[in-house]
Amino acid sequence: MEIVVSGIRSTGNLHLGNYFGALKNFVKMQHENECYFFIADYHSLTTHPTPEDLHGSVRQVVSEYLACGLDPEVATIFLQSDVPEVTELYLLLNMNAYVGELERTTSFKDKIRLQPNNVNAGLLTYPVLMAADIIIHKANKVPVGKDQEQNLEMTRKFAKRFNHMYKVDYFPEPSAYNFGEELVKIPGLDGTGKMGKSEGNGIFLSDTAESIRKKVMRAVTDSGPVEQNQKMAEPIKNLFTLMEVVSDKDTCDFFLDRYNNCEIRYGDMKKQLAEDIIKFTEPFREKILSISTDDAYLRKVVDMGAEKARLSASKTVREVREIIGYKPF
Ligand code: TRP
Repeated sequence: MEIVVSGIRSTGNLHLGNYFGALKNFVKMQHENECYFFIADYHSLTTHPTPEDLHGSVRQVVSEYLACGLDPEVATIFLQSDVPEVTELYLLLNMNAYVGELERTTSFKDKIRLQPNNVNAGLLTYPVLMAADIIIHKANKVPVGKDQEQNLEMTRKFAKRFNHMYKVDYFPEPSAYNFGEELVKIPGLDGTGKMGKSEGNGIFLSDTAESIRKKVMRAVTDSGPVEQNQKMAEPIKNLFTLMEVVSDKDTCDFFLDRYNNCEIRYGDMKKQLAEDIIKFTEPFREKILSISTDDAYLRKVVDMGAEKARLSASKTVREVREIIGYKPF
């Protein structure tokens, strides 16, 4: 079985984009691979959360992972901070990561622009910690979005460099895992671009029905088609894309037909879309609520995950120390 590792930073709640872009596939992959899915709560420190926020967000994301169908009996689900071995590998990898190459990564350059008053060393070495996360389990496949490709390239570079430096064939070079054709890009409700955590255009799995109705009714539209089969403007196409993932085919066809005949009433379409999104997210919302208040269950899940993850991580660190030359007296 191939080894799969992926993490999500514990900032903000999961939205429909995260679900269709990542989690739905994690759930499928867990049965065909040896999977390690974790909450990147060390990485989240780069933006200085308060102690309350840190814990609250971690709890929320774990609950959401589980509510979406990740099975702690099948996959290893854990918190990054429960596996301190990763920090040792991070330190060791840091010795062969060069400041110049780290400064040149796009995510670092973006962060400097976004938080000019908090350009900490953790941001600079973010890709090294991410590499440690991945290679500590000797992963072959890493399911991530396009925005993480450069970080993954750095991971391969650090793995290769280690192998080369110590003349070993120890770390495999992991590749980004492409979910195949099923990967749909979920658009936001603001007319352009994809759904994001910080863009304010998202629908969260934990949103109430009321809030979903409000968000959908506010979505951007246009003044309507004036000729038959008119090409759709992006905001309208986005509404249809959302409808395709949550509504049944008849509903989509109905509104598409209305659009093509210039008879569409966007208000009606949005009402229908909102109700179908609610129908889709409601079971998740209920599960998230019940899981996130079940302390005993959450504790059991993270303890079990930590134990499994540490088993794999400590083996790697032990072997790496040996390769580097640490020896018992
Ligand atoms: N950098 C990833 C993100 O921002 C999160 C992450 C941290 C990650 N470590 C990872 C993803 C290891 C995959 C594998 O979303």
